[in-house]
Amino acid sequence: MQKSTGIELLQMGELIHLIPIADVCFGTGYFKLYQFTRFLSEGSLGLIYRVDEKVVGYCLATVFEKTGDCKEAYVSEIKEITYPLGLIKNIAVLPEYQNNGIGNRLLDAVIHKLNFKFGCKILHYPAWTESKNYEFTKKLRRLGFTVQGVFPDYWAKDSLEKNYHCQRCGTPPCSCSLTLFVKN
Ligand SMILES: CC(C)(COP(=O)(O)OP(=O)(O)OC[C@H]1O[C@@H](n2cnc3c(N)ncnc32)[C@H](O)[C@@H]1OP(=O)(O)O)[C@@H](O)C(=O)NCCC(=O)NCCS
Repeated sequence: MQKSTGIELLQMGELIHLIPIADVCFGTGYFKLYQFTRFLSEGSLGLIYRVDEKVVGYCLATVFEKTGDCKEAYVSEIKEITYPLGLIKNIAVLPEYQNNGIGNRLLDAVIHKLNFKFGCKILHYPAWTESKNYEFTKKLRRLGFTVQGVFPDYWAKDSLEKNYHCQRCGTPPCSCSLTLFVKN
């Protein structure tokens, strides 16, 4: 029987496979299973990439229909947002599968769904500025995204409250910043 490889919609039963990917890519405990579960049960969009049955990457996005729906901390500092807003929340690929075009494929697929299935007028991609994979965002620029703002110490409070260890900063507080890419 042929083994499956490629992009699929994320289903509840697959959520458990996202944890080891998130742990290794963002730091242990940054994402917990209940957060992924809540995310999907609220109707958000998840895509996974499978290689020979194994889930090796994922991308999560949410659609916000109106003002006030999006609770991301940076939103209050953004002057104007058009709705529906598509927020590409999280993309990750297991290190041993990186640099094979999987991230690019996940990003293309999620953007296509947000634009054409959900009718999003604007896309946000909040990027972890100090990530060693920040270079990945050059793809966003090619796709027409521009930087709308940089928010220093973005996860400091959150990392203390949730006690997660950023891969770069280690013990909280995290001193990393967020760069917001936007495409209208
Ligand atoms: C970012 C990430 C999802 C990219 O996934 P990937 O499967 O390696 O990406 P691809 O192979 O499709 O490469 C995408 C592009 O980024 C570039 N790239 C990927 N990793 C890179 C790195 N470490 N350094 C420099 N460029 C890199 C590739 O050259 C490619 O550029 P191109 O489109 O001009 O050819 C993956 O590295 C990852 O999971 N990182 C940890 C989590 C993370 O930081 N996510 C948020 C990123 S802002």
